[in-house]
Amino acid sequence: MRLRLLFLPVLLIGTHAFAQSASTIDPYQYTIRKEVTVQHGAVVSAHPLASHAGARILQQGGNAIDAAITTQLALAVVYPGAGNLGGGGFLVGHLSDGRNISIDYREMAPAKAHRDMYLDAAGNANTTLSQEGHLAAGVPGTVAGIFASLPYARLPLRKLIQPAITLAEKGFAITEKEARSLNAHAELFKRLNTKPTRFVKDTPWKAGDTLIQPELARTLKRIRDKGMEGFYGGETAAMIVAEMQRGKGIITTADLKAYKAKERKPIVFNYKDYTLITMPLPSSGGIVLQQMMGMVEKYPLSSWGFHSPQAIQLMVEAERRAYADRAEYLGDADFVKVPVKQLTDKKYLEQRMQDYVPNKAGSSVAVKAGAPLHESEQTTHLSVMDDQGNAVAVTTTLNGTYGSGVVVGGAGFFLNNEMDDFSVKPGVPNMYGLVGNEANAIAPGKRMLSSMTPTIVLQRQRPYLVVGTPGGSTIMTSVFQTLINILEFNMPVSQAVNETKFHHQWLPDQVDVEPDFPAGIISSLEQMGYKVTPRRSPIGRTEVIRVNNKGMLEAVGDKRGDDSAAGY
Ligand code: DON
Repeated sequence: MRLRLLFLPVLLIGTHAFAQSASTIDPYQYTIRKEVTVQHGAVVSAHPLASHAGARILQQGGNAIDAAITTQLALAVVYPGAGNLGGGGFLVGHLSDGRNISIDYREMAPAKAHRDMYLDAAGNANTTLSQEGHLAAGVPGTVAGIFASLPYARLPLRKLIQPAITLAEKGFAITEKEARSLNAHAELFKRLNTKPTRFVKDTPWKAGDTLIQPELARTLKRIRDKGMEGFYGGETAAMIVAEMQRGKGIITTADLKAYKAKERKPIVFNYKDYTLITMPLPSSGGIVLQQMMGMVEKYPLSSWGFHSPQAIQLMVEAERRAYADRAEYLGDADFVKVPVKQLTDKKYLEQRMQDYVPNKAGSSVAVKAGAPLHESEQTTHLSVMDDQGNAVAVTTTLNGTYGSGVVVGGAGFFLNNEMDDFSVKPGVPNMYGLVGNEANAIAPGKRMLSSMTPTIVLQRQRPYLVVGTPGGSTIMTSVFQTLINILEFNMPVSQAVNETKFHHQWLPDQVDVEPDFPAGIISSLEQMGYKVTPRRSPIGRTEVIRVNNKGMLEAVGDKRGDDSAAGY
């Protein structure tokens, strides 16, 4: 069944595999598919048009990396709140030849950035400046990330970028959620932008309206025709720098020229019979995930059962401890020494749980960062698998929804507000309430600590799961819980993704729960001494692909957004 967006502003949720081929989709009339089960290749992302573009590339002979590139570029057009050219991200891949890779294209502090740049004369942090407008932007990494991914792809960039160009040039019908989100941000866009943007119009947006982005299409064409230079040099760089000058930002031509994506050694660890491949620093995601999985591994979670108070309490206490370590120790390892080996050592993780008392709430006053022995951390995730044994997890971000709110005049894309992911002052929470320390202080050229956790799970050395999510500080706990739901509680993928989630991040000392979290569990936790805080917003938008026992790919998009799966 299909929805005519132009006529019906409610998206229909499909649950069946693409009955029609992945070869055609009408950008003015399309369907959200929460779940597909397919044989050859699957893509799941935050938007049906992006997932479809990626699945089509798979069908045309591309591998999972090709599809990830196309899906990311399409998201930069159809999902402007988080899909991006002006932000950054991380790619984790398992290749058919057995190699594991990770590519870091996190934004970088400009050369003129400094430790106290968001403090006023009295030393107070002004987080409005790190969250809104030109000064909030780090040097964008996404385009460099695309070029660093290309050597692993099969098809030329010209082909991979074309769906994005067509969607930007010809336009597409926006979803109801996008219309609401654009309307909610209209005043911010008007206040922060020095030139008119395509994202504000005279009358409110509604589902089915067409968004056309000619400036963005031209930027994409420059990238297609001139490569890295099409973004980090020439006309696009000049537009970014001119935008900075109009808005008192500090990114310069030299900053753009100096930006490099970095291949990193991924974090690889075992959980029971599974091998997990995930993102190293400057994301805290992989380390924190490894810590939480390591802290719960020896406990009988599966026999306690899903959402049993015991299981939730154990997981909350693991979350508390891992986030405390994050705040103290984690930052860009190219700038600060981080005791990664010690923090992820199995013995250390066992010791960390020694003061965990079953049925009694721990306290973030008592539980501080651990003491590892010295040596002798709006976003969007996409998951892809092909039929050659390649699996790719990409999480990419502008940080807040629509990033800094600033669209580069003439170039048509939003700039990130990722500078807020640095610790602007020790102990001052960022927009996700995370606190940090010297390890994550601002320095020129340094990359701000992230929570993004793109993760692949192998079983018998073959791709089994691809998982990841947006959600700021909740990313790591969402990935953790989704994995535990599947690996320990044997849940079907869609249930594992859509079940209501909880979150503890050390400070503030409270368990955040989604609005639909069962009241009975809340009172069990309260009886143990926990402060439980229902949130207004949901936790995460998790995208999972799993290989089932018939070798078919089950791809599931989170119910919490317009997330959609595609494949063939
Ligand atoms: O890198 C990070 O950890 C954050 N900038 C992610 C932000 C995010 O997930 C927003 N999405 N809801």
